Amino acid sequence: MLRHSFSHKGIPFPAEIYDPETIDFVGNHFQVLDDDTFTVTYPKSGTNWMMEILSLIWQQGDPSWCRSVPIWDRSPWLESPNALEKLKSAKPPRRISSHLPIQLFPKSFWGSKAKVIYTVRNPKDLLVSLYHFSKLMSFLEEPESLEELLGAFLQGEVLYGSWFDHVKGWLGLRGRENFFCISYEELQEDLRGSVGRICRFLGKDLSDAALASVVQNASFQAMRDNPMANFSLMPDNILDKSKGSFLRKGVVGDWKNHFTVAQSERFGRAYRERMQDLAGTFPWDE
Ligand code: A3P
Repeated sequence: MLRHSFSHKGIPFPAEIYDPETIDFVGNHFQVLDDDTFTVTYPKSGTNWMMEILSLIWQQGDPSWCRSVPIWDRSPWLESPNALEKLKSAKPPRRISSHLPIQLFPKSFWGSKAKVIYTVRNPKDLLVSLYHFSKLMSFLEEPESLEELLGAFLQGEVLYGSWFDHVKGWLGLRGRENFFCISYEELQEDLRGSVGRICRFLGKDLSDAALASVVQNASFQAMRDNPMANFSLMPDNILDKSKGSFLRKGVVGDWKNHFTVAQSERFGRAYRERMQDLAGTFPWDE
């Protein structure tokens, strides 16, 4: 839930950090290049984890870049006004992150060979993550309860709008050779195997030692210990570190500690109804 928001084509954005002109520019005028690689997610799906994994892959497992440059500068945020300035002058190949739903993504992406890695996460865990995140971030309104956030989430009245629409929109690209989808749960289940699959998608050939280094340096603990990845550099007026950490728990299934049976059933009903076309696609559907 947002403190101050604007809506662009029906999608709510926090007005403190975004502006409608930039969102419009990105959709209509941003020039995507064939060798761009995008990390795309709905918020709280493991965006920063994927950004760290990719940074390490691009450096053949060498962690020095990850330890010396803030994560948001390694893969600038497409729809943020500051990052957009950086991207306009960035040397290719560019690495770019975004939470945009597909209908707001740059038009020039269509017809380009730019690659997209889309990370999804069990929406119940994502909701719990968003619930805690809302307590830290100045531009989010702290919900009175999980119940309240759950209602807003199911209505799409949260930042970046409906999770259901976001996922269904992006998964429409499955089968294209420049689109790769992976889940937070797969990363947790088998990080090394997942990194191998990402490398194949990117056409990167890493040695066993380099792969091992990616896995080691992208672990939850390594990221928590890395000031360039743990958000300790984020100013207090945006992220209130006294209220918790950005890298909160990093587990699968935390929803079981937060949802009541009634909330889980309510969520399940909405999920089955909205996701029936993709039934059985995700690890949490099993
Ligand atoms: P939790 O709040 O459940 O802990 P995003 O980057 O999209 O905002 O996602 C944040 C979520 O990803 C948080 O989830 C965070 O802890 C988790 N995360 C970040 N890095 C991780 C890692 N290396 N391993 C596991 N989870 C990670």
